[in-house]
Amino acid sequence: MHTKQLDQHVGQVVTLKGWVANKRESKTVVFINLRDGHGLCQCILGIDDLGDELFAEAKSLGQESSIAVTGTVVVDERQIGGYELHATDLKIYQNAKDYPISNKEHGVEFLVDNRHLWLRSRRQWAIMKVRNSVIYAIHNFFQSEDFVQMDAPIFTGNAAEGTTDLFETDYYGKPAYLTQSGQLYGEAMAMAMGKIYTFGPTFRAEKSKTRRHLSEFWMIEPEMAFCDIFENMDTIENFLRAVVLEVIDKCSEELEILGRDISKLETVAKPFPRMSYDEAVEILKGNKEVNGQNSLIVIQADLDAAIARQSECEGEIAEREATIAAGGIKKGVINFNQNKIDGLKAEVKQLEEDQRNLPQWLASARDFTYGQDFGGSDETVLTRLFDNPIMVYDWPHEIKAFYMKRNPEDPRFARGVDVLAPEGYGEIVGGGERETSEEWLVEKIQEHKLPMDVFQWYLDLRKYGSVPHSGFGLGLERLVAWVCKLDHVRETIPFPRYYGRLEP
Ligand code: 4AD
Ligand code: MG
Repeated sequence: MHTKQLDQHVGQVVTLKGWVANKRESKTVVFINLRDGHGLCQCILGIDDLGDELFAEAKSLGQESSIAVTGTVVVDERQIGGYELHATDLKIYQNAKDYPISNKEHGVEFLVDNRHLWLRSRRQWAIMKVRNSVIYAIHNFFQSEDFVQMDAPIFTGNAAEGTTDLFETDYYGKPAYLTQSGQLYGEAMAMAMGKIYTFGPTFRAEKSKTRRHLSEFWMIEPEMAFCDIFENMDTIENFLRAVVLEVIDKCSEELEILGRDISKLETVAKPFPRMSYDEAVEILKGNKEVNGQNSLIVIQADLDAAIARQSECEGEIAEREATIAAGGIKKGVINFNQNKIDGLKAEVKQLEEDQRNLPQWLASARDFTYGQDFGGSDETVLTRLFDNPIMVYDWPHEIKAFYMKRNPEDPRFARGVDVLAPEGYGEIVGGGERETSEEWLVEKIQEHKLPMDVFQWYLDLRKYGSVPHSGFGLGLERLVAWVCKLDHVRETIPFPRYYGRLEP
């Protein structure tokens, strides 16, 4: 029995087990918001129903005390969840005291230090439910499209994505690396099964603290035999559309808790714009317009708007402060004005940050050197012109991994594809068509200074029934961050691992 099943038990006596999310009390009644992991339910505990002794114990319960409440289910539309429990009995598992996370504001570092407890908060609950639905929808898509889930090893002898961010471990006296990607094994498995996907943890020693990087993250990597880059892009698009639409459908309550504007996600239903790297660079640098819009002018307009909005906010803050200072108004009116002032001050802080960032983004887009990879701010400037994910393909081969297929018509380019999410979330998918020529692969392995011996098995795939094949990798946490519109990927995984963070 849990809080999401109350609708089937109206008028009946049930027992709910959970934790005290918060509590109010009067002389004769205690109101407990019970949290049971499924949802919330207000429990009303009256002195007449519980008796003096139990009532006194109910009154003494601290936040996060563990309890079971027995009572009658009553419909009350005004309550969270829509029901109330009129209690007749209470069992206390533990009366918890001094729970460190209160309903007041806490700094993010404090909350991450207390991640083992922070997970119980309502927003974190909503994010974890969305993560769960994203995972479910991913399996749903691939299973219904006849992909077979297969697992790649975590200990590997070789680098898949360059050697700079490898975690080295000791494997019975020999060096081994935690996997950066299951792809190379995925290619072998696709030659056995046709269409496969891996879904596992991947590791990158990223010594930078950005809002998009984790040291340990989960990646979904489909691999398809007899598939070129364009069919690959079709699959990516169908996949992301199916997953996001299913999650919107299943998680309306969670997304509402997170304050997510769902219309921004529904745009996945439209075709994803596709462009070559060359085109993307032209758009980024403001040399090519999209629907009559120029990237640099759009960012400049954002900057102007931020400056204008800040002075508007500051004006309103001054007015409301004057109202409070003048006195002679009711407590409720003071509080109302103070709340507005707090909200406006938070907005000003954000606007000030925008005014620091936007000029740097503008400069970096203007000065972008052809041939480089896009940085986070370049991705933001580029995607600002679109309201749904975009796909950038055909990258200079020098900046892509050794296994990427060269475009046969123009070998300066490798047939990689990155998907960039809107609203500043940037790259969520990286993939491409794989090189089939053993000769070119050997050349690339040498060029990247990778040890040839550990790639012998991989080269075998080009000797025995080599076929055109493609695949991609989706970063689970980056997708969840975008779906939930979070400031940082660390909130998308139960126990985040990133540079400087190993606990709890
Ligand atoms: O673009 P990446 O490096 O591609 C690969 O690893 C390919 N082998 C995938 C394939 O074709 N099978 O990584 C793929 C995705 C990125 O687009 C990003 O979403 C995520 O993995 N990712 C990270 N997410 C969080 N923290 C990090 N440090 C990440 N690095 C990559
Ligand atoms: Mg990438």
